[in-house]
Amino acid sequence: MDQERAAFGGGVAVITGAGSGIGEGMALHAASLGMKVVLADISVPRMEAVAAAIHAAGGEAMTVHTDVSQPESLDRLAALTHEAWGDVRLLLNNAGIETLGFIWEIPPAVWEKTLAINIHGVIHGVRAFAPRMLAAGKPAWIANTSSVGGLGMMPVQAAYILSKHAVLSFSECLRLEMLVKKAPITVSAILPGPVATRIFEDTRPVEEPMALYHREVMRAMLDNDGITGIEAARRIFSQLAAGDFWVTTHREMTQGMAQQRAAYLAALATPELPPGAEQMLGSF
Ligand SMILES: NC(=O)c1ccc[n+]([C@@H]2O[C@H](COP(=O)([O-])OP(=O)(O)OC[C@H]3O[C@@H](n4cnc5c(N)ncnc54)[C@H](O)[C@@H]3O)[C@@H](O)[C@H]2O)c1
Repeated sequence: MDQERAAFGGGVAVITGAGSGIGEGMALHAASLGMKVVLADISVPRMEAVAAAIHAAGGEAMTVHTDVSQPESLDRLAALTHEAWGDVRLLLNNAGIETLGFIWEIPPAVWEKTLAINIHGVIHGVRAFAPRMLAAGKPAWIANTSSVGGLGMMPVQAAYILSKHAVLSFSECLRLEMLVKKAPITVSAILPGPVATRIFEDTRPVEEPMALYHREVMRAMLDNDGITGIEAARRIFSQLAAGDFWVTTHREMTQGMAQQRAAYLAALATPELPPGAEQMLGSF
């Protein structure tokens, strides 16, 4: 906690998807460290509720209605943040949605929306904020939310899984770009394991039995086994403050999946269904 306060206390945090779940937890935690928190979400009531909780606890927060799928919305968020509070210490590109269904059954608009939020929202978050962060020349952090799914593969989750692989790869390259620029900006990828949030509740799968079944399994798994958003935030912030690239809420699970992926790649193995696939997807 001391390391976190030293790194982040008094700074400005910008968090997309801050109205619920992991983003909400990170907003509350950032405020508890003495950060000024900019809440950016597509849902005004959700982020207003989080802002009210921060204010009630004596913290500082402002809300900016933001749709991360629109690059100009992120430009506006960056401009309003700088106008109000100046340099950003911590940018958390966290907003993301789930999409379930067979690749060929997901309608074009749903594909576009998923990629626009989960991938382009992260890219344009960095594009909008990085120039001012670089110009400020002060220590700062950028962390992009991928998932343990960014190390795996799963039928009927292609849209989500590929977006999380992309966020991981983007974050790796961004970390290297900050290195070659000798910028004091630490880049991390956040790979949450199960966190009890509304992500599957808000998902509207295509009307297809396997997608619907998988949604219920995942929703129950997060509800029963997921940690809270605030606990996730505690685990995430200590790793961010330490400068880790790989930030996770469930270290053993993440390491296990990374080892499986490393072995699979080293063997140039053929994709296989994960163990327990029938439990996750229903009979096939
Ligand atoms: N919950 C988990 O177990 C889990 C696991 C791995 C990764 N993640 C990732 O964590 C991140 C947060 O997910 P969560 O589980 O807290 O979900 P959540 O649904 O509880 O919260 C997501 C928030 O993002 C907002 N949002 C949706 N579309 C937006 C848009 N276009 N612009 C701005 N805000 C938008 C929603 O209104 C919501 O407040 C996501 O990137 C998700 O993929 C979650």
